[in-house]
Formats: sequence, structure tokens, C-alpha cells
Amino acid sequence: MKNLLCAAAVVGGLMTALPAAAQFAKAEDAIKYRKSAFNVMAVHFGRIGAMVQGKVPFDPKVAAADADIALITARLPYTAFGEGTDKGETRAKPEVWTENDKFKAAALKMQEEMGKLNAAAKSGNLDTIKAAFGPVGQACKQCHDNFRKDH
Ligand code: HEC
Repeated sequence: MKNLLCAAAVVGGLMTALPAAAQFAKAEDAIKYRKSAFNVMAVHFGRIGAMVQGKVPFDPKVAAADADIALITARLPYTAFGEGTDKGETRAKPEVWTENDKFKAAALKMQEEMGKLNAAAKSGNLDTIKAAFGPVGQACKQCHDNFRKDH
């Protein structure tokens, strides 16, 4: 078991050290992947938003299901910002790489808030969900302001 854990740690270490091209066939594949993940997350987060804003009727089961997908997809995009993925069809600013610690912290913050929204959605209480929704939106905006080009 100990050896297995060591092997896993070595492989894990390699994975983070390798350029994106090793995890994705091409840099453009990584860019496509992270954009897709952001879009899927945004759809499900947005559906909760529509309920929070009263645009669609509140359905606790649907909100909880959307919150689950949003939480899982919130982990995905950041695996695809490897080296060499700063050019091409991307709106990522150079700061993603030059201020990578800040970028990672912003990603973590969003994932934390998304976790709280998930717990709120499980409560089935719309007011609880409303209270947890705003901070997630703030976390999205904060990162976009610093790390995403307008167009
Ligand atoms: C830690 C930074 C960060 C956080 C947090 C973040 N984003 Fe983004 N987002 C980005 C970056 C960078 C891009 C540009 C990706 C690219 O073009 O390669 C992006 C792009 C997007 C896109 C456009 C994808 C496309 O097809 O071009 C959507 C939609 C999106 N984000 C939604 C969200 C939502 C919703 C949240 C919050 C729930 C969020 N993002 C949180 C950094 C972030």
C-alpha cells in the first residue's frame, strides 16, 4: 500500500510537471476543454440563478441536481491551463501564468463558494440558496476581472 501511494505521488508529480501537451494532445485541445467546462458549469449555475431570480419556478430537486453538476464542473477548467496554452482561441490573460498563485487562489475561492452553494441546494430552502448564490457570482466576476480578456 505504501509503495502504491509512493507510485501515485510520483505519477501525480509528473502530471503537474509535464506541459499541457502531455495531458492533452494539443494546446488547442486544452483550450477547448476548459472553455467547454466553463460553459457547462455556467449553464447549471445559471439555472439555479434563474430560480433565485424568480424567472423560473423553484424546484428543489432540479436545483440540487444543477448544484451537483456545477460543483463537479467547477473543478475541471483549471486542469487545462498548462504551459503553452496561452495562445490561440483563448481569452485568458497572460496573468493566468505570470500571477499563477493569484489565479489558483481565485479558482479555489470559487470552488469553496460553489461547495457552499451545493450544501445550500441540498437544504431545499430557496432563501438559503439565494444567500449562497451571490458569493459564487462574485468569485466568478473577481477572476474574470483579473484574468479574462473582455473580448
Ligand atoms: C480562477 C478564475 C476563474 C473563475 C473563478 C471563473 N472563471 Fe470563467 N473563465 C476564466 C478564464 C481565464 C476564462 C477564459 C478561458 C479561455 O478563453 O481560454 C473563462 C471563461 C469563461 C466562460 C467562457 C467560455 C468560452 O466558451 O469562451 C464562461 C461562460 C465562464 N468563464 C463562466 C464562469 C462562471 C459562471 C464562473 C463562476 C461560477 C466562472 N467562470 C469562474 C476564469 C475564471
